[in-house]
Amino acid sequence: MADARLFHWEYRPEPVAPEVFRIVGGRPLEGSVQISGAKNAALKLMAAATLTGERCRLTNVPEIEDVRVMAETLRDLGVVVDHPEPNVYEIASGDVEWLFVPLEAAARMRASFILLGPLLSRFGRVIISNPGGDRIGRRPVNLHVDAMRALGAQIDYRNGYYYALAPGRLRGADVTFPQVTVMGTENVMLAAVLADGHTRIRPAAREPEVDDLIAFLQKMGALIERTAPDTIEIEGQRRLRGAEHRVLPDRIETGTFILAAAVTGGQITLDGASSDHVVALLRILRDVGVDVRCEPGRIRVDGAGLRLGSFRATDVVTAPYPGLATDIQPPLCVLLTQAEGISRVHETVFEDRLEWLSELNRMGARAEVLDPHHAVITGPTRLHAAEVEIGDLRAGASLILAALAAEGTTTIHGAHHVHRGYENIERKFLQLGATIERVAEGMTAPTP
Ligand code: EPU
Repeated sequence: MADARLFHWEYRPEPVAPEVFRIVGGRPLEGSVQISGAKNAALKLMAAATLTGERCRLTNVPEIEDVRVMAETLRDLGVVVDHPEPNVYEIASGDVEWLFVPLEAAARMRASFILLGPLLSRFGRVIISNPGGDRIGRRPVNLHVDAMRALGAQIDYRNGYYYALAPGRLRGADVTFPQVTVMGTENVMLAAVLADGHTRIRPAAREPEVDDLIAFLQKMGALIERTAPDTIEIEGQRRLRGAEHRVLPDRIETGTFILAAAVTGGQITLDGASSDHVVALLRILRDVGVDVRCEPGRIRVDGAGLRLGSFRATDVVTAPYPGLATDIQPPLCVLLTQAEGISRVHETVFEDRLEWLSELNRMGARAEVLDPHHAVITGPTRLHAAEVEIGDLRAGASLILAALAAEGTTTIHGAHHVHRGYENIERKFLQLGATIERVAEGMTAPTP
């Protein structure tokens, strides 16, 4: 094995050094920030690279923990993963040595399950752990498994592992999902491009990251196309070739920085952002009264409405794309604490994605969770410093926003969750004039 590492048959997670963010808030953010490549595209593109023995090159890959976990997981399989310079990954899966994705990988990152489709269709078998991931509800994988069975896979579940076999080649099929699923759609795409015959996926997820994956697969020689807004069709090929691809900008990071400008009453320019991918959020920001101007590849935000007290409450409902992204709902809730009136939040995609609001309330917000899918936020409220705890990636970024808006020094425990998905988040906020540092638990606060 080129990159010999111990092979773990049992879950032995590496200990995470406990770190906190310390943030001195209450000041408007000013300046420009470069938006990174999208996490939820990069991870799938890395998985797609295992569909060929030829070398693939991905650029604009975000330097985040989830990408490192995916790289490590691939290396454990015997795939060559080179990282020649920052934001560039080269992947060559001429041969693999194991067709086993252990609990160790799955527990660290739910997206490891995206390896089911490509490994099964290219190598005919895989044993893959049931994934963990964020604490945002049950998050089952039954739709992925049912779809693979529709393509002819035999899948058994024993002791936390799926044992998947493709007798001969997988066969193209009509895959009908009972609800929209992003990774379910992508897993089927990654299996069907090497299957025998025609596959049609309906309803297929419409997220921009899915289209980025289609574009990469086309460069690899796959016959795959979105033939209607909710339909993807694929004619399976015997083999694919290596290709190069630049990861599209991260629309959730984009939304997070837009909201950071708004909640601190600052002025930020986002470079390398695509406004086309945040249309649902922009509509809500207009209702609230945040001034956002879009140019090709650039977004300018002026949060002066905060100082003027002119932000208005609004109701928000999350939905699959092109609806409002569930991943942007938590930072949007921080903005709603600054809006005059009562805002209703309806989270339709995940359960338990409102629980973190209890931490926001410790900072002075008035958010009431009515049930796992509904909350009511009354504003405006003056946020103040507190000691709070991050439970998942997006809630973590949202607590940072709240801390930047709040008077005083806030300590946020569980900083590692945020580095799963945001590249250099504290450096980017520092460049915008924030006082933020990530320190080991127990260290002293920064001087304002
Ligand atoms: N679902 C099932 N069974 C399945 C798959 C999904 O019941 O087999 C349910 C889920 O529990 C959820 C709904 O279907 O209620 C939609 O989930 P989906 O499959 O679309 O989510 P995902 O593909 O697992 C991706 C992103 C999430 C993002 C969602 C929704 C990746 C790696 N993750 O998850 O991103 O919230 O789509 O847009 O692409 C994040 O980045 O923080 C994150 C959680």
